[in-house]
Amino acid sequence: MRSFTTAFTKPMLKGYQAGVMGYTYKGVRCLKSPIDIAIYLRLLWELKPRLILEVGSHSGGSALLFADLAEIMGLEARIISVDLNIPEGVRDDRITFLQGDVMNLGPVLEACGLDEIPHPWFVTEDSAHSHAGCLAALAEFSARMQPGDILAMEDGVLDDLGISERYDGGPNRALGEYLAAHPGVFEIAEDLCDMFGPNATYNPNGYLRKL
Ligand SMILES: C[S@@+](CC[C@H](N)C(=O)[O-])C[C@H]1O[C@@H](n2cnc3c(N)ncnc32)[C@H](O)[C@@H]1O
Repeated sequence: MRSFTTAFTKPMLKGYQAGVMGYTYKGVRCLKSPIDIAIYLRLLWELKPRLILEVGSHSGGSALLFADLAEIMGLEARIISVDLNIPEGVRDDRITFLQGDVMNLGPVLEACGLDEIPHPWFVTEDSAHSHAGCLAALAEFSARMQPGDILAMEDGVLDDLGISERYDGGPNRALGEYLAAHPGVFEIAEDLCDMFGPNATYNPNGYLRKL
Protein backbone atom coordinates (compact mmCIF):
# COMPACT_ATOMS: atom_id res chain seq x y z
CA MET A 1 0.00 0.00 0.00
CA ARG A 2 1.32 3.45 -0.90
CA SER A 3 2.05 5.88 1.89
CA PHE A 4 -0.76 8.32 2.74
CA THR A 5 1.69 11.08 3.61
CA THR A 6 1.04 14.13 1.48
CA ALA A 7 3.71 16.21 -0.23
CA PHE A 8 2.87 19.15 2.04
CA THR A 9 5.18 20.18 4.86
CA LYS A 10 3.77 21.10 8.27
CA PRO A 11 4.64 24.85 8.11
CA MET A 12 3.22 25.13 4.61
CA LEU A 13 0.08 23.17 5.46
CA LYS A 14 -0.93 25.53 8.26
CA GLY A 15 -1.35 28.52 5.98
CA TYR A 16 -2.68 26.43 3.10
CA GLN A 17 -5.41 24.96 5.31
CA ALA A 18 -6.38 28.42 6.53
CA GLY A 19 -6.77 29.46 2.90
CA VAL A 20 -8.87 26.40 2.07
CA MET A 21 -11.18 26.99 5.02
CA GLY A 22 -11.61 30.65 4.07
CA TYR A 23 -11.99 30.13 0.32
CA THR A 24 -15.06 31.29 -1.56
CA TYR A 25 -16.34 30.80 -5.09
CA LYS A 26 -18.65 33.52 -6.38
CA GLY A 27 -18.94 34.65 -2.80
CA VAL A 28 -20.02 31.22 -1.51
CA ARG A 29 -17.80 29.17 0.78
CA CYS A 30 -16.04 26.46 -1.19
CA LEU A 31 -13.78 24.36 0.98
CA LYS A 32 -11.51 22.96 -1.69
CA SER A 33 -7.76 22.83 -1.93
CA PRO A 34 -6.59 24.78 -4.99
CA ILE A 35 -4.38 21.92 -6.11
CA ASP A 36 -7.41 19.65 -6.03
CA ILE A 37 -9.45 22.18 -8.00
CA ALA A 38 -6.73 21.91 -10.67
CA ILE A 39 -6.94 18.11 -10.50
CA TYR A 40 -10.75 18.23 -10.89
CA LEU A 41 -10.37 20.45 -13.97
CA ARG A 42 -8.27 17.84 -15.72
CA LEU A 43 -10.33 14.93 -14.34
CA LEU A 44 -13.62 16.41 -15.56
CA TRP A 45 -12.27 17.20 -19.01
CA GLU A 46 -10.77 13.74 -19.46
CA LEU A 47 -13.60 11.74 -17.84
CA LYS A 48 -16.47 13.79 -19.28
CA PRO A 49 -18.82 12.55 -16.54
CA ARG A 50 -22.57 12.39 -17.06
CA LEU A 51 -22.98 12.64 -13.28
CA ILE A 52 -21.12 14.73 -10.73
CA LEU A 53 -22.30 13.72 -7.27
CA GLU A 54 -20.90 15.13 -4.08
CA VAL A 55 -21.73 14.07 -0.56
CA GLY A 56 -21.17 17.11 1.64
CA SER A 57 -22.66 20.32 0.25
CA HIS A 58 -21.70 22.71 3.07
CA SER A 59 -22.62 26.14 1.66
CA GLY A 60 -23.07 24.90 -1.91
CA GLY A 61 -19.93 26.55 -3.27
CA SER A 62 -18.31 23.36 -4.54
CA ALA A 63 -21.55 22.26 -6.25
CA LEU A 64 -21.73 25.68 -7.89
CA LEU A 65 -18.13 25.36 -9.03
CA PHE A 66 -18.79 21.88 -10.46
CA ALA A 67 -21.91 23.12 -12.25
CA ASP A 68 -20.00 26.01 -13.81
CA LEU A 69 -17.06 23.82 -14.80
CA ALA A 70 -19.41 21.30 -16.40
CA GLU A 71 -21.12 24.06 -18.34
CA ILE A 72 -17.86 25.67 -19.48
CA MET A 73 -16.63 22.26 -20.67
CA GLY A 74 -19.90 21.51 -22.45
CA LEU A 75 -20.52 18.41 -20.33
CA GLU A 76 -24.01 16.95 -20.17
CA ALA A 77 -23.66 16.17 -16.50
CA ARG A 78 -26.27 16.05 -13.78
CA ILE A 79 -25.03 17.73 -10.62
CA ILE A 80 -26.28 16.25 -7.36
CA SER A 81 -25.18 17.36 -3.91
CA VAL A 82 -26.24 15.55 -0.74
CA ASP A 83 -25.92 16.77 2.84
CA LEU A 84 -27.63 16.42 6.20
CA ASN A 85 -28.69 20.04 5.62
CA ILE A 86 -29.55 21.60 2.27
CA PRO A 87 -27.63 24.86 1.82
CA GLU A 88 -29.82 27.93 1.84
CA GLY A 89 -27.67 30.35 -0.09
CA VAL A 90 -27.48 28.67 -3.50
CA ARG A 91 -30.46 28.34 -5.83
CA ASP A 92 -29.39 26.98 -9.20
CA ASP A 93 -31.49 24.95 -11.63
CA ARG A 94 -28.45 22.95 -12.69
CA ILE A 95 -27.90 21.54 -9.19
CA THR A 96 -30.09 19.08 -7.29
CA PHE A 97 -29.51 19.49 -3.56
CA LEU A 98 -30.79 16.54 -1.54
CA GLN A 99 -31.04 15.85 2.14
CA GLY A 100 -29.30 12.63 3.11
CA ASP A 101 -26.92 10.96 5.52
CA VAL A 102 -23.70 9.35 4.33
CA MET A 103 -24.44 6.51 6.76
CA ASN A 104 -27.59 5.64 4.85
CA LEU A 105 -27.35 6.94 1.29
CA GLY A 106 -29.40 4.18 -0.34
CA PRO A 107 -32.86 5.77 0.03
CA VAL A 108 -31.85 9.22 -1.20
CA LEU A 109 -29.89 7.81 -4.14
CA GLU A 110 -32.78 5.58 -5.14
CA ALA A 111 -35.29 8.43 -4.79
CA CYS A 112 -33.31 10.53 -7.27
CA GLY A 113 -33.08 7.67 -9.77
CA LEU A 114 -29.32 7.48 -9.50
CA ASP A 115 -28.99 4.10 -11.15
CA GLU A 116 -30.71 5.42 -14.31
CA ILE A 117 -28.10 8.16 -14.80
CA PRO A 118 -25.65 7.27 -17.57
CA HIS A 119 -21.97 6.77 -16.83
CA PRO A 120 -19.22 7.81 -16.48
CA TRP A 121 -19.67 9.22 -12.99
CA PHE A 122 -17.53 11.44 -10.81
CA VAL A 123 -18.43 10.97 -7.16
CA THR A 124 -16.84 12.94 -4.36
CA GLU A 125 -17.25 11.95 -0.73
CA ASP A 126 -16.66 15.15 1.25
CA SER A 127 -19.01 14.85 4.19
CA ALA A 128 -18.45 13.51 7.71
CA HIS A 129 -14.87 12.26 7.05
CA SER A 130 -15.40 9.71 9.82
CA HIS A 131 -13.95 6.24 9.38
CA ALA A 132 -17.46 4.76 9.42
CA GLY A 133 -18.85 7.39 7.05
CA CYS A 134 -16.06 6.84 4.52
CA LEU A 135 -16.55 3.08 4.66
CA ALA A 136 -20.31 3.51 4.19
CA ALA A 137 -19.75 5.70 1.12
CA LEU A 138 -17.24 3.26 -0.34
CA ALA A 139 -19.68 0.37 0.10
CA GLU A 140 -22.62 2.30 -1.37
CA PHE A 141 -20.85 3.69 -4.40
CA SER A 142 -18.71 0.67 -5.23
CA ALA A 143 -21.94 -1.27 -5.76
CA ARG A 144 -23.31 1.35 -8.18
CA MET A 145 -20.24 2.59 -10.04
CA GLN A 146 -19.02 1.15 -13.32
CA PRO A 147 -15.48 0.59 -14.62
CA GLY A 148 -13.75 3.88 -15.36
CA ASP A 149 -15.89 5.95 -12.98
CA ILE A 150 -13.93 8.02 -10.45
CA LEU A 151 -14.56 8.39 -6.73
CA ALA A 152 -12.68 11.05 -4.75
CA MET A 153 -12.35 10.25 -1.06
CA GLU A 154 -11.67 13.72 0.25
CA ASP A 155 -9.46 15.04 3.01
CA GLY A 156 -7.15 12.23 4.00
CA VAL A 157 -4.86 15.21 4.69
CA LEU A 158 -6.51 15.19 8.14
CA ASP A 159 -3.68 12.80 9.11
CA ASP A 160 -1.00 15.33 8.18
CA LEU A 161 -3.01 18.07 9.87
CA GLY A 162 -2.80 15.95 13.01
CA ILE A 163 -6.55 15.73 13.56
CA SER A 164 -7.62 12.40 12.05
CA GLU A 165 -8.11 10.89 15.54
CA ARG A 166 -11.20 13.07 15.85
CA TYR A 167 -12.56 11.14 12.90
CA ASP A 168 -11.63 7.71 14.23
CA GLY A 169 -8.81 7.55 11.69
CA GLY A 170 -10.87 9.20 8.95
CA PRO A 171 -10.49 8.69 5.21
CA ASN A 172 -6.98 7.19 5.23
CA ARG A 173 -7.82 4.46 7.71
CA ALA A 174 -11.04 3.68 5.83
CA LEU A 175 -9.30 3.63 2.47
CA GLY A 176 -6.45 1.44 3.69
CA GLU A 177 -8.85 -1.08 5.16
CA TYR A 178 -11.27 -1.02 2.24
CA LEU A 179 -8.64 -1.46 -0.46
CA ALA A 180 -6.98 -4.31 1.46
CA ALA A 181 -10.29 -6.10 2.02
CA HIS A 182 -11.66 -5.54 -1.51
CA PRO A 183 -8.86 -5.97 -4.04
CA GLY A 184 -9.93 -5.48 -7.64
CA VAL A 185 -12.80 -3.08 -6.91
CA PHE A 186 -10.92 0.21 -7.22
CA GLU A 187 -7.41 1.16 -8.22
CA ILE A 188 -5.71 4.25 -6.87
CA ALA A 189 -5.67 6.73 -9.77
CA GLU A 190 -2.02 7.64 -9.37
CA ASP A 191 -2.20 9.88 -12.45
CA LEU A 192 -4.56 12.12 -10.43
CA CYS A 193 -3.09 11.70 -6.93
CA ASP A 194 0.43 12.42 -8.16
CA MET A 195 -0.30 15.07 -10.81
CA PHE A 196 1.71 17.69 -8.89
CA GLY A 197 4.08 15.30 -7.10
CA PRO A 198 3.49 12.19 -4.96
CA ASN A 199 0.20 12.78 -3.13
CA ALA A 200 0.41 16.56 -3.54
CA THR A 201 -3.30 16.64 -2.81
CA TYR A 202 -5.72 16.93 0.08
CA ASN A 203 -6.90 13.46 -0.95
CA PRO A 204 -3.83 11.20 -0.62
CA ASN A 205 -4.48 7.91 -2.42
CA GLY A 206 -8.02 9.26 -2.52
CA TYR A 207 -8.69 9.40 -6.24
CA LEU A 208 -10.03 5.96 -7.02
CA ARG A 209 -10.82 4.52 -10.43
CA LYS A 210 -13.44 1.76 -10.51
CA LEU A 211 -12.18 -1.47 -12.03
C1 LIG B 1 -16.27 19.61 4.41
S1 LIG B 1 -17.93 20.11 4.35
C2 LIG B 1 -18.30 19.96 2.62
C3 LIG B 1 -17.56 20.96 1.84
C4 LIG B 1 -18.05 21.18 0.43
N1 LIG B 1 -18.04 19.98 -0.38
C5 LIG B 1 -17.16 22.21 -0.20
O1 LIG B 1 -16.17 21.83 -0.84
O2 LIG B 1 -17.44 23.40 -0.03
C6 LIG B 1 -18.74 18.76 5.08
C7 LIG B 1 -20.24 18.75 4.98
O3 LIG B 1 -20.65 17.42 5.29
C8 LIG B 1 -21.87 17.48 5.96
N2 LIG B 1 -22.05 16.24 6.74
C9 LIG B 1 -21.53 15.94 7.96
N3 LIG B 1 -21.92 14.72 8.34
C10 LIG B 1 -22.70 14.23 7.34
C11 LIG B 1 -23.40 13.02 7.15
N4 LIG B 1 -23.41 12.06 8.10
N5 LIG B 1 -24.08 12.84 5.99
C12 LIG B 1 -24.10 13.82 5.05
N6 LIG B 1 -23.45 14.99 5.17
C13 LIG B 1 -22.76 15.20 6.31
C14 LIG B 1 -21.83 18.74 6.81
O4 LIG B 1 -23.13 19.18 7.05
C15 LIG B 1 -21.00 19.66 5.93
O5 LIG B 1 -21.83 20.51 5.20
